[in-house]
Amino acid sequence: MALNIYKNPEIANKYSATLKKRAGLCLFDEYYLEKNISQNTKVLDLGCGTGRHLIKFGNITDITGVDISPRMIEIANKALDKNNISAKTIVGDILNIDKFFKDVRFDTILMMYHTFGSIVPYNNRVLLLKKIKSILKKDGNLIFHVHNRNHLKNLKFLLDTYWNNKFEIGDKLVTDGELKGAVIHFFSKRELERILDLAGFKIAELINLELPNEKKQINNFKKLFNTGGFIIKACQKKL
Ligand SMILES: C[S@@+](CC[C@H](N)C(=O)[O-])C[C@H]1O[C@@H](n2cnc3c(N)ncnc32)[C@H](O)[C@@H]1O
Repeated sequence: MALNIYKNPEIANKYSATLKKRAGLCLFDEYYLEKNISQNTKVLDLGCGTGRHLIKFGNITDITGVDISPRMIEIANKALDKNNISAKTIVGDILNIDKFFKDVRFDTILMMYHTFGSIVPYNNRVLLLKKIKSILKKDGNLIFHVHNRNHLKNLKFLLDTYWNNKFEIGDKLVTDGELKGAVIHFFSKRELERILDLAGFKIAELINLELPNEKKQINNFKKLFNTGGFIIKACQKKL
C-alpha cells in the first residue's frame, strides 16, 4: 500500500517546492553531514528524494541515490545535469538494496528526513537495517533522521492511529494531502537503541533536534520536552 503512495508524482512535485519554500528546514542535517562525510569516499543515499545530498556531495564523493519515486529521481537527475554534478541514481525500493549492490561496500549510508519512518511495519525496518549492514564497510557509518514520538504534540494522533486502526505504537496514519493513506512511523530513543542493536549496530552519536522545525540542535534540559526528531550516527557493533 505505502509503496504506491510514494510513487505518486505529486508528492515529488510538492517536496521540491517545500524544500525551496522552507529554506533552512534541513539546516542542521546539512551541517552535520558536511562534518561527517569525507572526500573521495563511497556514499549511498537511501530515499534520496529530489537529490539534495547528491547535489551537495556529488563532486567530492562517489555517491549513489536510491528512491522508489520515478519523479523524485527525474527531478534529481535534471538538477545534477544542470549543475554538471556526477552522481548515480536508481529508481527502486530500498528494501532491495542487497540486490542492487551485490559487490559494493559503502563508507557512509544516509537515510535523511524521516525516510526510515516510511518503512512499515516493524519487521521491514529490521530487515532494512540488516541489509544496510551487509553493504556497509566494517568501519562505515549509517546516518539517519527520524521524528521523535515522545512529544506531547504527537500524543493525540498516536493514540488515534493505534486505537482506531490497530497499527503499531508510533505509527501515524496520514489522513489528508498527497500522502493520504501512508503510514509514517515515529520513534522513541529507546526503540532506536533496541532496533539498531538487533540489526548489529550501536549508536555512535545521537543529536536532539529542536521543534518547531527540527533545524537546530538542543543540548540543554529543553531536549527532555522539546525534541522534534533525532539524527543518529550508527556504527557496527564489534563482534
Ligand atoms: C521525506 S522524503 C526525504 C528525501 C531525502 N532523503 C531528503 O532528505 O531530502 C522521503 C523519501 O523516501 C522515499 N521512499 C519512501 N519509501 C521508500 C522505499 N521503500 N524505497 C525507496 N524510497 C522510498 C520517498 O519517495 C521520498 O523521496
